[in-house]
Amino acid sequence: MKVLGIESSCDETAVAIVSYENNQAVIEHSEIYSQVQEHKDFGGVVPELAARAHIERLPYLFNNLPLHKIDAVATTTGPGLIGGLHVGYSFGRGLALALNKPFYPIHHLEAHALTVRLTNSIDFPYLLLLISGGHTQIIDIKNFRQYRLLGETKDDSCGEVFDKTAKMLNLGFPGGPAIEKVAKAGNPFTYNLPCPFYKQSHCDFSFSGLKTAIKDIVAKDCHTKDQIANLCASIQHTVAKILTDRLSVALNLAPHKKIVIAGGVAANLYIREQLHNFCMENACELVVPPVKLCTDNAAMIAWVGIEQINHKIEPSIILPTPRWSLTSLML
Ligand code: KG4
Ligand code: ZN
Repeated sequence: MKVLGIESSCDETAVAIVSYENNQAVIEHSEIYSQVQEHKDFGGVVPELAARAHIERLPYLFNNLPLHKIDAVATTTGPGLIGGLHVGYSFGRGLALALNKPFYPIHHLEAHALTVRLTNSIDFPYLLLLISGGHTQIIDIKNFRQYRLLGETKDDSCGEVFDKTAKMLNLGFPGGPAIEKVAKAGNPFTYNLPCPFYKQSHCDFSFSGLKTAIKDIVAKDCHTKDQIANLCASIQHTVAKILTDRLSVALNLAPHKKIVIAGGVAANLYIREQLHNFCMENACELVVPPVKLCTDNAAMIAWVGIEQINHKIEPSIILPTPRWSLTSLML
């Protein structure tokens, strides 16, 4: 079976074809157009510009794709920016109609959550740490569509810490990769930044206090190249400390042997290393998709289409849904 995936929920326009035969998944095509140019002057994603760029770019990503071989179309239907969702959805559903193939509406977070099953062929269950630009959650993934939310952010997302700090320091957009690059030259123990909810007995997160503390440091005491590098390194260190602290509580609530990280922040190599050390100390295995598939892409969307087909989920009509909780998908 071959499934076409379309992703347009934020600032990446992406299409992919994933095939599945004899229990083997292969990413046959994966194209991503990243809208960095469109948004960089604004230091963040501008929803209207994102939607327009999706309209502009999406048709070009289909050049030379073997659409006649497709068995189904899977498209991100939420959560995300409504303009972009409408573009991808109209395109995907129209294409499915034209090709006379089933159309699968896809939950973007479920795609992040299940990517490791495409890339690392792992089985359920596992503990998922989802750290993206829009979400920060710890989810007990018991089985397909058996998801239990253990904790989530009460304010900003983990990715926002990176994006907003990069904006304050004029490091460019998107913030995560920019901070990671600068942090390489810094000392992660220079700044003692706040860790909200540290050692508390729940799995929720809060990042707004950290953001405010960073803002104060930037205003007072962060001008030289060295100071900026030290601050970026300290931010990465603090985020990793917060994540591992919350994961230790989660492991008590759901004692899994596998921890999966997903979402754009999972591309950060320093954070990966800290999480890897945490897993070693807790006799767990850390499973992470390749960096390219941690950030938004369409292969993960096609993959959830394949998971739905494999689990005999009938294609349903779900309209673009900007706010959509993962746990609402429970079977
Ligand atoms: O999953 P994603 O591509 O899009 C959403 O669904 O939100 O995540 C984007 C987020 C942004 O906040 C971006 O700054 C962050 O992931 N990010 C990183 C890195 N690469 C992307 N954060 C830290 N280090 C990175 N290398
Ligand atoms: Zn995402």
